Amino acid sequence: MRGFDLRNRHFDGLVNTPGLMWLGQNTNHLSPHPAVTEAMIASIRAEGYHAYAPPAGLEELRELILQDLGLDPAQASVLVTDGAVEALYTACRDLSVPGGTFVTTDPGWKWPMAFAKASGASVVEIPIYKPENGYKLTVDQLAAAVDERTRIIYLVDPNNPLGTCHTAEEIAAFTDIARRHGAYFVHDCTYRHFADAHSLAAHCYPERTITIYSFSKWLGLAGMRLGALVAHPEVLERLAMAPPNNLGSNIVSQRGAIAGLRHREAWFPQVNQCQRRNQAEIVRAAASVPGLEVVNYPSQANLLVMECVGAGVTPEALCQAYREEGIMIRQGTYHTATFGHRFVKISTTVPPAWADRFCELLPSRVERARQLKDLPALF
Ligand SMILES: Cc1ncc(COP(=O)(O)O)c(C=O)c1O
Repeated sequence: MRGFDLRNRHFDGLVNTPGLMWLGQNTNHLSPHPAVTEAMIASIRAEGYHAYAPPAGLEELRELILQDLGLDPAQASVLVTDGAVEALYTACRDLSVPGGTFVTTDPGWKWPMAFAKASGASVVEIPIYKPENGYKLTVDQLAAAVDERTRIIYLVDPNNPLGTCHTAEEIAAFTDIARRHGAYFVHDCTYRHFADAHSLAAHCYPERTITIYSFSKWLGLAGMRLGALVAHPEVLERLAMAPPNNLGSNIVSQRGAIAGLRHREAWFPQVNQCQRRNQAEIVRAAASVPGLEVVNYPSQANLLVMECVGAGVTPEALCQAYREEGIMIRQGTYHTATFGHRFVKISTTVPPAWADRFCELLPSRVERARQLKDLPALF
C-alpha cells in the first residue's frame, strides 16, 4: 500500500473510533454556543446548500473577520477559504518562485513548506527549539536567514507545537526585515485567540503581510473547513485570480461562523479558561513522572509540548500506548525531524474529563510505552 493510502487509513481509523478522545490535533471539542449549531441547522433545513456561496465569502462574514482582527478595510481585505490550509496553499503556491527562498521556523507547521517547494522554492528552517531563547525565533536569527532571494517569511504565531507567542516589538522587527528585502510576511494566526496578548504583523507591514485565519481551533469547526486569507486589497486582487476554490466555501459553515463571531464574547472566555485549566492539570501530572517535562507553560495556544526523551520513551511509543486507551496525542516528528524525537504534543481544548483521563493514565502509559515494540506507522 502506498504512503498516501496508509495515511488515509490511519485517519479513517481515528474518525471511526467511537468515543476517541482527541488530544492530538489542537481541534476544539468543547460544545459551541447554541447559536452556532442553530445557524448551521437552519441553513441545512432551508436547503441553502444548493447554491454556491460568493467566491470570496459572505459579505457579513468578511466584515466580521476584519472586525475580529481589528484591521482597517482600506488596508486589508478578506478571502474566505476552505480552512486556513487553503489560505496557506493559495499564498505559498502563488508567491513562491523557483530559486526563491521560503523562510520559516523549526518546529513549525509542515504543509506550507510543501506548498512552497511545489512551486520550486528552497525552504530555510530556523531552529527555535532552544530554551535559552524561550523557544522563540529571535530577530538576529531571522535577519541572518533572510536575503534578497526570500519571497516568503512564514511565521506560526502562537507557534504550533510550542505555544510561544511574539511581542509587538518582535513582530515590528520581523516585519522591518521583511520590508527591507521586499518579502511577503505570512503571519499564521490560527491560534491567536488563545493568547493572553497577540500583535498582528498587518499593523506594521500592511502592504505585504498575509494574515492567516482559522475557524477550526477557537470556534471548533475543523470538520466544517473554514478559514480566511487577509491581505492588502492589491495583494488579494492577485491571489483571488486563481485560487484552488473559486466557487465559494461551505455555506453552512459560513452561517455557523457568523453566529460564532457574533457570540464570541459570551462564549469563548469559558473555552479558554477550560483549556488553561487542562494545561495546569497536565503540567501537574507530568511533574509526578520522573523524566517528563512540559516546556513553555502556560502555552499561548491550545496545546502543550511534553518532553518524554528524559523518561526513556519514544514519542511514537507513548502515542501508541495512549491509543490503546482510546486517546490520541501527537508525536513530535509530525512537526520537526530535528527535535521530534524529544516530545509529544497534547491538545487542551477538550472536556476536562478527557484531560483528567490523560493525566490519570500518564504513569502507566509511560510504563507501557517502555514495553511496546513494532509500532504502527504514525502520521
Ligand atoms: C499552524 C496551523 N496553520 C493552519 C492549520 C490548518 O487550519 P485549518 O483547519 O483552518 O485548515 C493548522 C492545523 O493544525 C495549523 O496548526
